Amino acid sequence: MPYQIENVQAVETLDSRAKPTLQVAVTLAGGLRATAGVPSGASTGSREAVELRDGDPDRYSGQGVLKAVSNCNTEIRDLLSGRAFDSLAALDQALIDLDGTPNKARLGANAILGTSMAFARAAAIADGKELWQWLPTIEGQAYRLPVPCFNVLNGGVHAPNPLEFQEFMISPLGAPSMPEAVRAGAEVYSALKKILASRGYSTGLGDEGGFAPDLATPQQVCDLLVEAITTAGYSHGRSGIMIALDPASSEFHKDGRYLIGESQLSSEQMIALLDELVERYPIWSIEDGAAEDDLADWQTLTRELGDKVQLVGDDNFCTNPAIISEAIDNGVANAALIKVNQIGTVTEAIDAIRLCHTNGYAQMVSHRSGETPDPFIADFVVAMGSGQIKTGAPARGERIAKYNRLLEITASASLPYGLA
Ligand code: PGA
Ligand code: ZN
Repeated sequence: MPYQIENVQAVETLDSRAKPTLQVAVTLAGGLRATAGVPSGASTGSREAVELRDGDPDRYSGQGVLKAVSNCNTEIRDLLSGRAFDSLAALDQALIDLDGTPNKARLGANAILGTSMAFARAAAIADGKELWQWLPTIEGQAYRLPVPCFNVLNGGVHAPNPLEFQEFMISPLGAPSMPEAVRAGAEVYSALKKILASRGYSTGLGDEGGFAPDLATPQQVCDLLVEAITTAGYSHGRSGIMIALDPASSEFHKDGRYLIGESQLSSEQMIALLDELVERYPIWSIEDGAAEDDLADWQTLTRELGDKVQLVGDDNFCTNPAIISEAIDNGVANAALIKVNQIGTVTEAIDAIRLCHTNGYAQMVSHRSGETPDPFIADFVVAMGSGQIKTGAPARGERIAKYNRLLEITASASLPYGLA
C-alpha cells in the first residue's frame, strides 16, 4: 500500500549537548503524524554527509539549524506533500534527487535524515507494525537483539580529562538475554562509580554518559574496567563481559604520529600498543585504531590484529557504501560502524549494512555523541540483525532511551540475543 504524505514540518530543537538539531514530523494523509530526532557527532569523519548549520555567529555560535528547518518546511514539503511512496527506498531516492549533491550539502543531511526517519515511523504506524517489523531487512541476517556496548568511561573530545582514547566500552557477550545484558552493564557501571569515588576520582560524566576521571593511560582504564567487572560479580571473557575500545585515533594523529601523553608514537608503535592491550586485557573490538586518512596504517593494523579482534571502521567509512566497498577491496578493517546521520538516509545506511554482510564484515549500529531521546536505532539494529549496538553508558535519558526500547522489544517478541 502506498503511503501518501500530507505534510512535513521541522522545528529547531536541542540535542544532549545544548546544540541545535532538528525534530522532523511527517504527517500522512488521514492525519497520522510521527516525529524523529536527528543526532550529531563531535569526532566526525571528514567524508560524512553535510550537517547543514547556519553559520550565524549571533545564534548558537553559528550552530543553528534554521536553514535545514526551512528546507524541510519549504522545498522538501513542496516535493512530498500530496505524493505517495511505495517504500522508504522510494522516499529516500526522491530526497537524494531533490538535493542533487553527492553529500547532501544543499538541503542538509540533517534535514533529509529527519524526514527519512519520520516517514519510516509514520508508515510503520499506518501499517499497525512496530518500527523494527516495518523496516526493510537484510537477507541472511534475521531479527536479533544486539550485544550492547556500554561506553562507561569517556575521553578524547567527549571529556575534559587527559585521556586521548575516546571510548572504553563493556560488552556483555556472554549474557543469556537482553535484560541480563542491560543489567550487567548497569551493575558494572555502578561498581565502577564506587571504585572511582573510593580512590578520589571524579564521577562526573562525559558526553556519552560514561565517567570522565583524570586518568591518563588506556592501561589504567582497562585495569579499572576489569576490576569493576569482577567486583560486580561477572567474569571477563567471551562467556562473560569483554571490553571494546574506540580510540578515535584520527583526533590525536598529527603529521604521521599518534600523540599520546608525552609520546609521539609511530604507526608501528601505535599498532604495537593496541596489540599489547589486546594481549593483556579481554578486548574483543577496536574501532578507529588507525587514523582515517592513513590507508597503510589501516592495512597493517588489519593484517596484524584482524585475526584476533574485531576492527571497526568509523571515521574512515562514514557509513558510505562506496567508501566501504573500496575499503573492503583494500583489506581495511573487518567491521563497520553504522551511523545513520553519517550518510543521511535510512536506506543508504541499510545499503551499507547489506554490503558489509555480503562481504563478511560485521556491523555495529551506533548513536552519536550528540543525541536526542529518539530510540530509532534500537528498532533499526533489531531489524538489521547486526547483533551489535553502541549507544553510550547505561545513564542519561538520551542513551537509556535506546536500551529501554530494546528491553521493550524483548518483552514483545521472542528474538535471539547476541552477535550475528
Ligand atoms: P561522535 O563519536 O558521535 O562524536 O562522532 C562517536 C564515535 O566516534 O564513534
Ligand atoms: Zn568512533
